[in-house]
This record gives sequence, structure tokens and C-alpha cells, in this order.
Amino acid sequence: SHRITFGPLVAAIDQGTSSTRFLVFNSKTAELLSHHQVEIKQSFPKEGWVEEDPKEILQSVYECMERTCEKLTQLNIDISNIKAIGVTNQRETTLVWDKETGEPLYNAIVWLDLRTQSTVESLINKTPGRNKNHLKHKTGLPISTYFSAVKLRWLMDNVDEVHEAVVSHRAMFGTVDSWLIWCLTGGKSGGVHCTDVTNASRTMLFNIHTMNWDPELCKYFGIPMEILPSVRSSSEIYGLMKSGALSGIPISGCLGDQSAALVGQMCFQDGQAKNTYGTGCFLLRNTGAKPVMSDHGLLTTVAYKLGRDKPACYALEGSVAIAGAVVRWLKDNLGIIGSSEELEKLAASVGTSYGCYFVPAFSGLYAPYWEPSARGIICGLTQFTNRSHLAFAALEAVCFQTREILDAMNQDSGIPLTQLQVDGGMTSNRLLMQLQADILCIPVVKPSMPETTALGAAMAAGAAEGVSVWSLSPEDLSEVTSEKFEPQINPEESEFRYARWKKAVEKSMNWET
Ligand code: G3P
Repeated sequence: SHRITFGPLVAAIDQGTSSTRFLVFNSKTAELLSHHQVEIKQSFPKEGWVEEDPKEILQSVYECMERTCEKLTQLNIDISNIKAIGVTNQRETTLVWDKETGEPLYNAIVWLDLRTQSTVESLINKTPGRNKNHLKHKTGLPISTYFSAVKLRWLMDNVDEVHEAVVSHRAMFGTVDSWLIWCLTGGKSGGVHCTDVTNASRTMLFNIHTMNWDPELCKYFGIPMEILPSVRSSSEIYGLMKSGALSGIPISGCLGDQSAALVGQMCFQDGQAKNTYGTGCFLLRNTGAKPVMSDHGLLTTVAYKLGRDKPACYALEGSVAIAGAVVRWLKDNLGIIGSSEELEKLAASVGTSYGCYFVPAFSGLYAPYWEPSARGIICGLTQFTNRSHLAFAALEAVCFQTREILDAMNQDSGIPLTQLQVDGGMTSNRLLMQLQADILCIPVVKPSMPETTALGAAMAAGAAEGVSVWSLSPEDLSEVTSEKFEPQINPEESEFRYARWKKAVEKSMNWET
């Protein structure tokens, strides 16, 4: 058998909340050549707590890399063609490790975690006018359990090992990107402690105007600045892989997963948007060179900065905490489906929720409400309701939540989106895509290559100065094919169901009182 010759290849580590992937693309065509995926365990040690094991996360990355390289070799593709590796990751998830031993000092506290709810409530109560948007002018974010600063504060206050490491100058803080890059570039023997502007913008310690860690914010949360990683652009060489089959290859792209999907979907123009259905669901709209503050509960976030000397681009973001996670819950907690794929069949078998509405506010409600005390609710049950209706209601919940953030986005920008570009694991569910078009009353467009998050990170890595296998112009890519779902129900029907959903949301926020 002969070796197939390819141009340069670019790769990405996609470390999401539910799984880790490693993917290799042809840099000329963006064709996905090989990949491997490993699921990540989540633990729920107490009600509302969500943790993951930093070492398991790191191991899963090595495993995915090795298996992908094996698959490439089987395809007769030479792995020495891989010129650059990008990192993209679940954002906000918070880690602290010891730089001398290289050991994590606690589990990673996952973005969905609610343990800081009372801290958040007391911080908000202390602001003038009890205003959750007190720090928004600098951070673009409301004070919420979602972001890293409060999680880091919790670690310093509640974990002795973390406290001691901070006091003795041995502690390093990072989001998942920082942890991985530090480990992959050598860890305790010379690893690079850095993050990129997109990940930094989700910590609540970063000033999105000056593009630096903000001393006042650090003081507000009591975080010593020396434990923070250095902040870099999303596309530059951070360091080289230190071990394994890919040793010596530069890591030269870094983006939070939602930013990476925006890049991978080629949303480089002001006004372009994408919605990604992962564990959560995140709609980002590019607002160009200026940060736009939302009046409708959206976040202002750094979209990307593709090179040290390139300008930063910003985005408005609507974040939904629970999307794919509701499927895992139906499977693991209720046991009414055996696999994610079963959900579509079950829901399609009835084609309606029969008046049942399911608000999966497991981690409170994110955009546009930012209500940490909200809890999940299922209403409209009758003797007739069965698991199929519940399955349908779960899919509808994902669509209604997207409708809420799309409405907010349209109100903020004044220019309604005329179609929605989508990606992420759940988009393989065709019923969900059709329901989404029906509930939004606009077409939903899905690219045929679903791995847009990884593609974005690989593009950033390939375009880095000193690597440059890939110019970031969409013209370089072969025609991107896509599939379109048109709305099929009448708008009155859609509005009726959406109004019912809103009532259910009200109840999820007030069920205790
Ligand atoms: O903000 C959290 C987000 O980055 C997680 O993405 O794909 O793991 O749901 P995902």
C-alpha cells in the first residue's frame, strides 16, 4: 500500500463538558480525515454540585490523540503532516493545581455547578441597588454562579490544599485550556501557563475593554493576580507538544468552544451568528470591533483575536445551561431511554407533547433570566401523558430556550436574524432541527460537516504566525455544503406553544414562594 500525499494537516483538541475529541483536518479543504472521542465522567457529590477529574480530562486528551494517530496511519496518512494543534474547551470550568508537583488540588468545578449560589446572592445584595449587572461595564457579564471567579473563591475558602498552595506561591489557576496547555507543553518541567482572550473573558476577572486581567476585579473577588495565567491571543504559538506521537508540534490555537464554533462557522462579519447544541446551548452573534452591552439579558464576550497584532472581535451571547444535558438526564436519572439516539424515535412516535411542558432549569436559569434559584419543572401532566410525550417536551424545551435567546438577540441588535446557523452534537437529531425551525419561524441551516468547533480551533492554529498553513479566508475552503430546515407549522400555532412555555418558565422561577 502506498502513502497518500496530503498538504499540511491541522488538528484540534476539543475538550467539552461531556466528552473529549481529537480531530485532524486537511488544511486545504477542511475535510475531516480522522478523529476519536472519549466520554468524560461527571460527578454530582452534592445537590447542585458538578465536578470532573482534571487527570481524567488530561488522560482522555492523550488517548484521543493516540487513537486518532493510529487511525491516520491505517489510512496511510503520514502524521508528520500535522503542522499545528488548536485547543478548544468547555469554558468557565475552574481548576487549581500545584506548579511544583503538577498535581491538581481539587476536582475541576464545572461551569454548571451551583455551590456558589449563596455567595452570588450575597455579593449581589451588597451592590448598590442589588444589581446583578454591577460588574457588567468591565466584564460584560452578570454576577452569576456560571463564571470562574466565584468558583475560584470557593476553592480558596473551602479547600485547605488550595489555600496553602496560594499562600506558599505554588498555586496555578486555570480554565481547561490553561490546564491542558500547561500539561501538554511540559507541566512541572517548563509548561506554559497561559490562556486566550476568549477564555479569559469568562472568568469575571478580565476587563474586556483593556483586554487585561483587572486589578480591581481581582481585589473584589480576593484573587491574587500571581496565580492567573498570562493572557494571549487566540492564534499564536504558545508552546510545543512535549511527549507522545505528536511531540514537537506547536500548539498555536486556543479558543473557548463557543468562540471556536463561531470561527468554524465562518461568522467573521458583524451580524453573523451561530447556535451550538452541546451540553448547553449557546447563540453567539458577532458584533465586530466593539463590545455591545445587552439590554435583554445577553452576555458581552470576546469572540476571538486571531493573532497578536490582530484586533479583537466581540460577540453578544445567549447562554442556555441545559440542552444536551437534558437527554443525559432522561437516560441516566429517569432511565426512560437507553441511548441519546432513542430519544428522537420516542418523541417522533407521538409528534406532540400533548400539552406537557418541561423546563429543565437544573442549574437555575441562564439567559435571559440569570435566576440561580430557578429549578426544573414539568407541568401539564395528565393520565394520558407517557414517556414519549416527556421526550418530546424535552426536545421542545431546547427549542423554546433558543427562541428566548434569539428574541433577546433580535431586540438588542434591532436587525432580526432571517435564518439560524446551527451546529453541535444534537443537530444530528432531525426532529429537533425541524421543531427548532417551527418554533423560531425562520429556517435553520446545518453544515454537512458538524465539527465546526474543532474546525475553528484548527483554523486558528494553522493561521498562527510562524505556522501559517492556512489563511483564514472562507474562499480557501471548498464549498461548504449544508442542509436547511424550513418552518412547517403556522406562526399562530408556534406562538401559542411558546406562550405556554413562558408560563411554565414563570413557575420554574417561583415554585418555592
Ligand atoms: O460555557 C460552557 C460551554 O463552553 C460548554 O460547552 O459544548 O460543553 O456544552 P459544551
